[in-house]
Amino acid sequence: MINVQIYRYHPEHDTTPYMQSKTLPEEFRSRMVLDALEYLRAEDSTLAYRRSCREGVCGSDGMNINGKNWLACIKPIAEAIGTTNTLIIRPLPGMPVIRDLVVDQTLFFEHYQTIKPWVINDEPAPTIERLQSPEDRKLLDGLYECILCACCTSQCPSWWWNPTKYLGPSALLQSLRFVVDSRDTARMERLKSLEDPFSLFRCRGIGNCTWVCPKGLNPMEAIGKLRLELLREST
Ligand code: FES
Repeated sequence: MINVQIYRYHPEHDTTPYMQSKTLPEEFRSRMVLDALEYLRAEDSTLAYRRSCREGVCGSDGMNINGKNWLACIKPIAEAIGTTNTLIIRPLPGMPVIRDLVVDQTLFFEHYQTIKPWVINDEPAPTIERLQSPEDRKLLDGLYECILCACCTSQCPSWWWNPTKYLGPSALLQSLRFVVDSRDTARMERLKSLEDPFSLFRCRGIGNCTWVCPKGLNPMEAIGKLRLELLREST
């Protein structure tokens, strides 16, 4: 049997959150954490969590698994528990818990909105799509793949300390994605909007973001590049 410790909190019934003990059959060792959650919810339909695609694409089942943020649907249980025999599942840290493993991501998406996550280009629309050279298109690699699961931002101490002022690694990686897009004409405006002590520069290079990104992206490096872009424009 595999032991499970799972965070539970129902604001209408519980005065404080608690860790609930459960067990999983041995055969779950080779399966994903989301499979465990589905199994446990079949036993107890009050268990709340988000999930949708089950393929590591939608980003809705980000949670803290044995101390590290990950997507439950693509995290093997054997890998999560290592040599321990206990699977520990908590909600994403640093975000208010709505219920059980469901957190309030309002602030996370407000930060995303501030970077204007769309191509800005007021030039007359061409008769065909706006083309890019292969070299320009390549600049977007490692950036466009972000699925907004919030694993990186939620594991970032700089964001915990300044959640309303520091945009966090996910929004900043997305910002770079549009700053380097050859079709976008708002590069200067985008960079200027980050020129304050908090939005971008509150990153302390801790690197948790890169450590946890389930898509293998490197938000810490993206933040460094964004700073360089800003420096280049202001000198
Ligand atoms: Fe969509 Fe896991 S359920 S990323």
